[in-house]
Amino acid sequence: MSDKPKLTKEYPINLDDYPDDGIFEIRLEPNSEDFCSKTGCLRLLIVHQGKYHVIENKCGHFGVPLSNGELRGNEIVCAEHGISFDLDTGEVVNRPYENCDPIKILAIKKKGRMLYLQET
Ligand code: FES
Repeated sequence: MSDKPKLTKEYPINLDDYPDDGIFEIRLEPNSEDFCSKTGCLRLLIVHQGKYHVIENKCGHFGVPLSNGELRGNEIVCAEHGISFDLDTGEVVNRPYENCDPIKILAIKKKGRMLYLQET
């Protein structure tokens, strides 16, 4: 279990700033109450098949960035070894390798064209 504090601030994302499909790096602005560094937290916004997800940009296997991953239905497939993660739960879908953790998913509230994020 991590000792890092959870994000306590909501982070707004305007969907008008992003295309209708793809994986986009987003940087959450740091605040004094969360674990973001002085440069902020890099996360991935995924817009796919009319759904929205925000995940940590870190594979649960060896921690490589998932920004180079491929979207397949409701899953992201890591480009390194092909492990798939469910975008709603973060759970590993296929298990070709041992020692793979789920990925971290951020909770989203959608209001109009705005998403509001809060780490859970
Ligand atoms: S590092 Fe992502 S599947 Fe191995």
